Amino acid sequence: MKADGAVKEYGLTALMDLEEEIQRLKKDLHAVILAHYYQESEIQDVADLIGDSLQLSQHAAKTNADVIVFAGVHFMAETAKILNPSKQVLIPDLKAGCSLAEGCPPHQFKRFREKYPDHIVMSYINCSAEIKAMSDIICTSSNAVKILSRIPMDQPIIFAPDQNLGRYLIKKTGRELVLWSGVCVVHEMFSERKLIHLKVRHPGAKVLAHPECEQRVLQHADYVGSTSGILNYVKQSSDGEFIIATESGIIHQMEKACPNKTFIPAPPEGDCACNECPYMKLNTLEKLYLCMKNRTPEITLDEGLRLRAFKPIQRMLEMS
Ligand code: 13P
Ligand code: SF4
Repeated sequence: MKADGAVKEYGLTALMDLEEEIQRLKKDLHAVILAHYYQESEIQDVADLIGDSLQLSQHAAKTNADVIVFAGVHFMAETAKILNPSKQVLIPDLKAGCSLAEGCPPHQFKRFREKYPDHIVMSYINCSAEIKAMSDIICTSSNAVKILSRIPMDQPIIFAPDQNLGRYLIKKTGRELVLWSGVCVVHEMFSERKLIHLKVRHPGAKVLAHPECEQRVLQHADYVGSTSGILNYVKQSSDGEFIIATESGIIHQMEKACPNKTFIPAPPEGDCACNECPYMKLNTLEKLYLCMKNRTPEITLDEGLRLRAFKPIQRMLEMS
């Protein structure tokens, strides 16, 4: 891709081939580029690995690259740093946050946790290092059911910060969980009313949904799973039409893998592009290039905090 549009904003050389420059920098830095499925397609196309939160953290845990360029949101890059203290971890835009992480401030969560002294804390990976450090075990959307099933039935549990994933887990496993009331701003926007209309117009389409969606949307789903779970379902299915109730960035890999199948993004309630994550989309190809060229923004962490946050992530990786 040529950089014409970004010349003024970023001071890039006109007609610079960004993909080529990124590949050159990758060799120079001995870097690996990890990208989440919700990133813009042009970022996905230059990445060494595209994956869901679990796959990306598993890869970050074993990479031998010197520099990890994390095209995702802050908690994902921070997790890579927690796993790799001696490596440089770069992120294209430091402001690429997450409503779940931001909706769970450590001082408030500390007080919440103190109300349940006999409970252990299972946290969704979409949280800050401070929340991870207060947790006993971490999970992602692809291993949450498995991890929960390994915790003894008589052990009371706090689940944070996603109340929708928490409710899904309660329904799926029959366990009681004390929930922190966080939400994903993307997945809570899907409209049940419009989804029903869409199903009437496309009676053969399978509805695939992420467990961050609300129960009223999940109840219409033929399959509920993480981004990689949804992608695998599409690849293996003999069906030809799918309604996708998760961030629309995932459709890029679906179209590449299954060019003859049809993917319909589940509609949000308003006339907005609310099925695009505003945090994920802060990263652009230009910013990816610039963070590699300037070796900033970089993720840094206090070592004491890192060590405390490392333990529950390590437990998750061992159990996954
Ligand atoms: P997964 O990558 O686990 O599917 O989670 C999706 C998500 O919202 C990440 O922010
Ligand atoms: Fe966070 Fe939702 Fe964006 Fe994922 S899609 S990064 S959970 S706000």
